[in-house]
Amino acid sequence: MSLLQVTDLEKGFGSVLNRLEVLKGINMNLKRGELVALMGPSGCGKSTLLNIIGGLLPADSGEIDLESRKYGLKNPSAVVDVRRTMVGWIFQDFHLLDHLSALDNVALALEISGVPSKEADKRALAALERVNLSDRADHIPDQLSGGQQQRVAIARAIAGNRPLLLADEPTGNLDIASGAEVLQLFKELCHDEENPISILMVTHDPDLASKADRMLLMREGKVAASDIRSAWGIEAGGEEE
Ligand SMILES: Nc1ncnc2c1ncn2[C@@H]1O[C@H](COP(=O)(O)OP(=O)(O)OP(=O)(O)O)[C@@H](O)[C@H]1O
Ligand SMILES: [Mg+2]
Repeated sequence: MSLLQVTDLEKGFGSVLNRLEVLKGINMNLKRGELVALMGPSGCGKSTLLNIIGGLLPADSGEIDLESRKYGLKNPSAVVDVRRTMVGWIFQDFHLLDHLSALDNVALALEISGVPSKEADKRALAALERVNLSDRADHIPDQLSGGQQQRVAIARAIAGNRPLLLADEPTGNLDIASGAEVLQLFKELCHDEENPISILMVTHDPDLASKADRMLLMREGKVAASDIRSAWGIEAGGEEE
């Protein structure tokens, strides 16, 4: 059964005279425990799709089904519960608060969503343990490497037990080794037997994408299942390597 189902999603920007149709009927799904990589040329609408799934932007038509919630066309103000309890975000530039320790960065996010502060600290520490950073809980972002900062951001995103993580180029600012570590962590989180989450990850790196459970390619406003060749723009039936 799918955790997330996206059906016939369409979205354009601009006025009638100056219209840019970006998503032209997106159909895709994500199972519980699945890590899916989303690739596609710059400007094709990957972030737009994530924003609609994350309840930050309404589409023009189509539907999002996430567990028991149905939305997609609703205004962001009508999907507060989706943003608060269902979807976690991970960004290219981490978005951590500079003056707060790793623990407080994670705990604050929990407190904002209504968790009492003592309980928030406990859950934040457990989340840092899950990303192997409990020994750095007292460090501020400046005292952490890029890869460690991204792991704090991942801890923050998973601390609230949200079933879906949306990661927009999460390794874009990391060196190759740290990027590979983040991907390995994503796999562990998705394939956890007790408490699996699902991750939809935008990446421009075909090497990382090929390590996901599945890869989707966005082109001309649609999404197609993909293999490594089509991501590179090599047509099927072309030269063998
Ligand atoms: N709020 C907006 N108003 C007008 N146009 C927008 C808006 N948001 C996105 N667009 C346009 O929609 C298209 C898709 O943008 P989007 O950011 O989703 O692309 P992307 O696939 O994430 O690209 P990249 O790989 O560079 O991050 C682009 O042409 C962009 O300029
Ligand atoms: Mg983008």
